[in-house]
Amino acid sequence: MIDTLLISSSTERGPQIAARLEASGIAFRLRTLHGNAKQLRVHAAAIKNADLLIIDDAELTPRELSGVEEALSQTPNLHCMLVTPAPSTTLLMAAMRVGVRHVLSWPLDEAELADALAHVSAKKNAGMRRDGRVISFTSCKGGSGTTLIAVNLAYTLAAQRDKRVLLVDLNQQFADASLLVADKPPPATLADLCAQIDRLDAAFFEACVMHVHANLDVLAGAGDPVKSGELRAAHLERILTLVREQYDAVLIDVGQNINPLAIHALDHSDSICMVVRQNILYLHAGRRMLDIFKELGYPASKVRMIVNQYDKNARIDLPTLEETLGAKVTHHLLRDEKQATEALNHGVPLVTSAKGGALAQGIAQLAEVLWPRPVVVRKNVLGRLFRGRPNAPPQLKTGH
Ligand SMILES: Nc1ncnc2c1ncn2[C@@H]1O[C@H](COP(=O)(O)OP(=O)(O)OP(=O)(O)O)[C@@H](O)[C@H]1O
Ligand SMILES: [Mg+2]
Repeated sequence: MIDTLLISSSTERGPQIAARLEASGIAFRLRTLHGNAKQLRVHAAAIKNADLLIIDDAELTPRELSGVEEALSQTPNLHCMLVTPAPSTTLLMAAMRVGVRHVLSWPLDEAELADALAHVSAKKNAGMRRDGRVISFTSCKGGSGTTLIAVNLAYTLAAQRDKRVLLVDLNQQFADASLLVADKPPPATLADLCAQIDRLDAAFFEACVMHVHANLDVLAGAGDPVKSGELRAAHLERILTLVREQYDAVLIDVGQNINPLAIHALDHSDSICMVVRQNILYLHAGRRMLDIFKELGYPASKVRMIVNQYDKNARIDLPTLEETLGAKVTHHLLRDEKQATEALNHGVPLVTSAKGGALAQGIAQLAEVLWPRPVVVRKNVLGRLFRGRPNAPPQLKTGH
């Protein structure tokens, strides 16, 4: 899958280039922005997330290539393709000097474009195969906030941590995760995808997911228990194998069902977040769910307990909860009914509509707990430690 950003100065050529990309048969994801080579700085953030930057600029001259050079130096894995009518030798030479390998003349030659895309795709696959971590979210009882947490964590990882994220709605009752992130219907559901599982490849998958953010895709749930009944563990396995290579993080909203399909997702998860609330009914069901996880052979370290809608005055406080369930609480999130309802009504993630609020901050902290940042040893710290120490041990003066 080539993440492609097309910056085009023409509303006519843009769609034609998109159609040519489609016809090439190479899996790609396309974002199109209006602009030209002079305006690359404005689009710096979008360029940073792309594998391939296509600049379609009819007025392109060598002078404009300094912006391209800057973009390429800031994003080392980025490939750049220039599209312009009848490129001169001077332009070709200048492009080569700044690191652009593909300069295509307009109108596009189909074979030339396909070759260039194949080259970018091969480079990407050789060097950048992702190894996505899978985290499942379960609730022992309905309404614990599993979907709200999974959706907002996915958005946070995508928008704030620059991860490529997929959220899969595996809720087998009335799947609703897509409603929390968008107010439009998804292009396809998990049930639609599984019904055509033989067509599954990166391009087909790409067509089935909902693009919520440049870094976040959502695979909508089957919709209802009848459609969910048709899902098979083997289908899920094929999907998970594919998506692990395409995303950094795969979040699965499993919901409360524990059946063979859910167990398959849990088996293939690196971690399971079990969402509970401070209520006797959740404690009862939570205890049972933890027993099931033990029976399934999951190590305690695989299961993370998240307390949602935390109430510091509740009779069941965190120590009581931990003692009753025999497990540590990984994180707790505050209750914020107003912001949760508002986000839901607008079909936007709470972490965007109530950015900076306590609940959004709690979700950002959860992202840090589940995806800790690599520890960077700063050179100057080492420098300070060893400052003043000579490289060689002091020589003893020999007396005469
Ligand atoms: N921290 C919170 N503060 C306030 N309201 C919340 C919070 N978390 C969830 N809610 C609200 O609780 C309700 C249930 O949340 P959600 O749908 O995420 O639960 P769920 O566990 O996915 O439920 P289900 O079992 O039906 O899938 C929603 O109305 C949601 O807005
Ligand atoms: Mg739910």
